[in-house]
Amino acid sequence: MTVRAVREAIPLARPVLGEAEEQRVLEVLRSGRLSLGPLLVEFEQAFAYRVGARHASAVSSGTAGLHLALRAVGVSDGDEVVTTPLSFVASANVAVYERARPVFADIDPVTLNLDPQAAAAAVTDRTTALLPVHLFGYPADLAAFERIGLPIVEDACEALGAIDADGIPVGGRGHPAVFGFYANKQLTTGEGGMITVADAGVKERIDSERNQGRAPNLDWLDHDRLGFNYRLSDLACALGLAQLERLDEMLAGRARVADSYRSALGEIEDLDLPCEDGVTDRPRARRGWFVFVVQLPRGLDRDGVVRALGDRGVPSKPYFPAVHLMSYYREQFGHREGEFPVCEDVAARSIALPFFPQMTDAQVDQVAEALRDVLGR
Ligand SMILES: Cc1ncc(COP(=O)(O)O)c(C=O)c1O
Repeated sequence: MTVRAVREAIPLARPVLGEAEEQRVLEVLRSGRLSLGPLLVEFEQAFAYRVGARHASAVSSGTAGLHLALRAVGVSDGDEVVTTPLSFVASANVAVYERARPVFADIDPVTLNLDPQAAAAAVTDRTTALLPVHLFGYPADLAAFERIGLPIVEDACEALGAIDADGIPVGGRGHPAVFGFYANKQLTTGEGGMITVADAGVKERIDSERNQGRAPNLDWLDHDRLGFNYRLSDLACALGLAQLERLDEMLAGRARVADSYRSALGEIEDLDLPCEDGVTDRPRARRGWFVFVVQLPRGLDRDGVVRALGDRGVPSKPYFPAVHLMSYYREQFGHREGEFPVCEDVAARSIALPFFPQMTDAQVDQVAEALRDVLGR
């Protein structure tokens, strides 16, 4: 085996799992209560407490959570939802699930989040909700979105641990905020999600709709509204509870790796790194580190860079492509290049580098060395 092959072991992402997780999951297996058991409520309450929310509802995925949250704020047939084109596709898809139209507005070039001014300009008399995404864990400018005066659903799938510009933990502001627990997230249950809300009535509706429309006070198999199977099993909740206990440690690990990347990559000319906390006059804003995405210098062949990094044992991924330019969105909604120039520029140059809490400084240096080599800088 060559030295290079030995060094080919850096994964793009890796969850932190240990004995606490095994123990919790085993307890559920032994109890025989695999779903709708006591751990569901325990996980919801512990999560709500952690982010300073009044209520939380666990669901089967971030996408399921966004879907239920949009329904809860009243989005339906023919409505418009203003959102960002730089995101994972789910944040736009959930509007389409309700036969509403996702209306995109351009992003802020520094934070990469939906630009509140562009969002306000995209509002029409059919707009029923705003759906800002806390992209890559950096908190969106919620105070500015609130001034628009429409219901808000926060896509916080990437933002566990983030603090907004008013010093409020993301998820604790009162709008439905949706977290994702897929395997690459800050906290994972394999698949899963959580909706935090301030209003008990909204929680009740969400809890019913995730369980086939069964109201909490109705008998088994009595359903008084349309619902879905968006439940999270007690096995997943057990994993979530164990992960929640080590969340600070995992977030600190990600922040440490991000700092190492900043020192290792800071000198590379024309390489744009994730924005620092508190930029654009919002000094209290703090990122909940999720991924480390850099924007390559303009004019480079991004796919060629990804291949060349791969040849050097460093996995990377174009991340994210612009949603409006995906073939489904082009065909269904007639989108074309040039509509959202800031987003398109960022999307064309962005790659995610390996990033996980246990990453060592030596691994960060290996990535930095490979990137400098490939970029010739
Ligand atoms: C911004 C964003 N929104 C929504 C989702 C959807 O979450 P899930 O994959 O849990 O359905 C994700 C995660 O993958 C995401 O990153």
